[in-house]
Amino acid sequence: MRLLWYKPRVPARIIDGKAVAQQVEREVLEVLAALPYRPGLVAVRVGNDPASEIYVRSKARKAQEIGLRGTELIFDAAMREADLLQEIDRLNHDDDVDGILVQLPLPRQIDPRKMIDAIDPAKDVDGFHPINVGRLHLGRATLVPCTPAGVMRLIDSTGIPIDGKRAVVVGRSDIVGKPMASLLLQRNATVTICHSRTYDLPSVTREADILVAAIGKPMTIGPEMVKRGAIVIDVGMNRVGREFADRLAHDEEKSRLLAKNGNALIGDVDYSRVREVAEWITPVPGGVGPMTIAMLMKNTVTAAQWRRR
Ligand code: GUN
Repeated sequence: MRLLWYKPRVPARIIDGKAVAQQVEREVLEVLAALPYRPGLVAVRVGNDPASEIYVRSKARKAQEIGLRGTELIFDAAMREADLLQEIDRLNHDDDVDGILVQLPLPRQIDPRKMIDAIDPAKDVDGFHPINVGRLHLGRATLVPCTPAGVMRLIDSTGIPIDGKRAVVVGRSDIVGKPMASLLLQRNATVTICHSRTYDLPSVTREADILVAAIGKPMTIGPEMVKRGAIVIDVGMNRVGREFADRLAHDEEKSRLLAKNGNALIGDVDYSRVREVAEWITPVPGGVGPMTIAMLMKNTVTAAQWRRR
């Protein structure tokens, strides 16, 4: 018999985003059942970006499925900025509309900042309006961006306290990285934000008890960048083709999908290798993705309650 002097490594436990999202949906249903009205969500899409088509349809469908009034508003890619502003103004003044979201990215002729600024902050279920961003930064009650809010729920689902932990967020976008850092800070984590100009990224990420990857580049976080025992949350959603086959060769499951479908959806984290180092990890798909939509439902109900009170 070989004596083991070390504790054998078990692969990281998987954080099941679908299960946590279902839990959030059950909570939303409970609140909805006690409301004397049906909150309304309008998801606006301009143009035919394939990813946006899927996201906006999923958002409107999920809304309908759980008993909200979910509407998809679709406009031509050549729509003028002034016309979209007018639509937003109409939705702002429609008393049956509780939540408005304008799917990003927008066609070139439309400035996303102007659109975000035009949405009534009380109906801004994405939490992108400067008023809501400011409230979040100040730690006040507000509509919180859905993806980072969902990530907090995923971290909490592990049962590991955030208080006092070292959290590293890779990516500084307005949609994920910045609000993510605010939320972690509010829960008393020691937070570092890394980005494309960070010097010696691995030396920073290796310090993280909680590592959130929101870079938008496939397999950027390798095992050498992760502290043993860390919680790793992968926000990336990258569709890659056969040109990625070599880099994915070590990942049996993804290689099989790539061979079968000609493409595969992968995260910003090298999942199969990082799993050997981390304690908890989110898969792609089935991790952060389902949470974003669930939190949007929650925000819509919250927006309705606050606005109609
Ligand atoms: N594009 C990518 N993520 C998002 C999001 O959370 N909301 C909106 N409106 N657009 C997005």
